[in-house]
Amino acid sequence: MSTYKDSNDFFIIKALEDGVQVIGLTRGTDTRFHHSEKLDKNEMMIAQFTEHTSAVKIRGNAIIQSSHGEISNLNDE
Ligand code: TRP
Repeated sequence: MSTYKDSNDFFIIKALEDGVQVIGLTRGTDTRFHHSEKLDKNEMMIAQFTEHTSAVKIRGNAIIQSSHGEISNLNDE
């Protein structure tokens, strides 16, 4: 099985509004927030999954690009 260790893969988050939060969740049995980054409109973050980070939660309107494609959680409500 290939794991994050075999990959240099990164993903890009581009904020479409001020105050987009990128929240890193810990790897392992205990899943908790360990880092929160605030992005303002048009700011981008380039990140990887690591020994410490197994999941990422994104709050706010953003475009996320990865090797799996591009997704946006933009909503115009
Ligand atoms: N220190 C964290 C780590 O090495 C930094 C990090 C990597 C991170 N990827 C992330 C923080 C994604 C938030 C979201 O795991």
